[in-house]
Amino acid sequence: MIDEPGDFGRDAPLLQAWARFAASPSRPFTIPGHHRRGGTVSDVLGELLSGDVPLFGGIADIKTAHGALAAAERLGAQLWGADWCRYSTGGSTHANQVVALAVGRPGDTVLVSRAAHRSTLSGLVLAGLRPVWLPVDIDERLGLPTGVAPATVEQALAEHPEAVALFCVEPGYVGTLSDLPSVIALARQRGVPVVVDQAWGSHLGFHPDYPPHALSLGADAMVLSAHKTLPAYSQASVVAACTGRLDPDRLDRAFEASATTSPAGTIHASTDAARALLASPLAQGLLDRLVRVVDDARGRLQEEIPGLRTPGPKDFAPGRFDPAKLVLQLDGCGLDGNQLERALIATGMPVELADRDTVVPIVTMLDDADTVAALVDAVVEAAAWLERAPRPRTVFAPWTQDIPVAALTPREAFFAPHDTVQASRGVGRISAELVAPYPPGVPVLVPGEVISREALTLLREAAAGGTRIAYAADPTLSTLQVLA
Ligand SMILES: Cc1ncc(COP(=O)(O)O)c(C=O)c1O
Repeated sequence: MIDEPGDFGRDAPLLQAWARFAASPSRPFTIPGHHRRGGTVSDVLGELLSGDVPLFGGIADIKTAHGALAAAERLGAQLWGADWCRYSTGGSTHANQVVALAVGRPGDTVLVSRAAHRSTLSGLVLAGLRPVWLPVDIDERLGLPTGVAPATVEQALAEHPEAVALFCVEPGYVGTLSDLPSVIALARQRGVPVVVDQAWGSHLGFHPDYPPHALSLGADAMVLSAHKTLPAYSQASVVAACTGRLDPDRLDRAFEASATTSPAGTIHASTDAARALLASPLAQGLLDRLVRVVDDARGRLQEEIPGLRTPGPKDFAPGRFDPAKLVLQLDGCGLDGNQLERALIATGMPVELADRDTVVPIVTMLDDADTVAALVDAVVEAAAWLERAPRPRTVFAPWTQDIPVAALTPREAFFAPHDTVQASRGVGRISAELVAPYPPGVPVLVPGEVISREALTLLREAAAGGTRIAYAADPTLSTLQVLA
């Protein structure tokens, strides 16, 4: 494929280097220790390790590999309109931590969407930043979060003139985006850099039917999980910035401080390939097909399963919804998302996210009409025999709760001694841990926050509804970790 004239891979230097190494008879005496000889132990081990090409000594020799990666990252910067761009093998988790370490100094205030992923939170711990949480808006009609409202941002900027950055998550897990142009304009008026966690939106910005990517809207930094929606290896991510308001040297130091020194060249080559694909004419056709097949799926699901809702771009203002996102809202048809998920797993089609009321399969540009039709068939088939109990629309509780009072910063709480107590005795104490129902992974409790009865109740209700309670030391919620 990559040798065909005009193929996107011609412009992907790391992909080409990976292919050269894979085809070479090289017998390395470098790390990784498998030395391409896993097959001498067992076929399975050989197969498992066969794709592993290190950056150093595989993609390029140890002395020049930094340069090869930097050249590929320059192509990334070019594509996303950045002047600083790094590829990470540590996922957007690493990338979010990098940006947190680059925006300020310990003790500085940052404005953070409460939809933030836990990696942003761990970035706050590492960097010692003090978050002011911004609640996300809810569209009551659709029962969905719609990002952070400009009015919320305006008020927070006015109340916290000391803030050194604004962190947003765009799109969120159900595909909705804030009114980013307005949010960015407000932050710019005050010279506050905007960091957008666009982990779920690596495919945005390259086709008129999709929202623009965050840098093109004026954000200062953007984090992309290439592996989430592009054809890239797990852990492949990109962090890119326009550095007028951010220090490129600090970004580099932050990146190196928290990155592995033995990156997988295979992961980097896949990021390079995904970048080259987006830059190629092929992307238009693939992104076009993706919009179409997801739209068809929405139509078919709504037609064949009465009461099922599948919100789409038409339900939102332009630029506020990712048209590739397929969200199944189940309350009206009465299906239970956890049961539906199990049925789909049984047919070999695991989905990315499921709770009682919502199921989100990830459809990407490598899916086609057949793969998506098979998914729709499986959902329709399962709906025919699964129990149905239509219920009123509810908005997922973590989005609606009053944000708890913070007694300490996440960093202070992280380093403080803690006790484990019966959960009911935790009310009124300070949480030592992050607790978030997953999906959507939105924190109900952040380390340093006072545990309210409301927070405990909604966590218990989420758990009772079959939602996994993530990140807590005791996911059954019998106990909680609180500061001593
Ligand atoms: C909004 C958001 N940001 C960041 C991450 C972390 O991404 P990764 O899994 O690439 O480390 C996730 C993971 O799901 C996420 O949902």
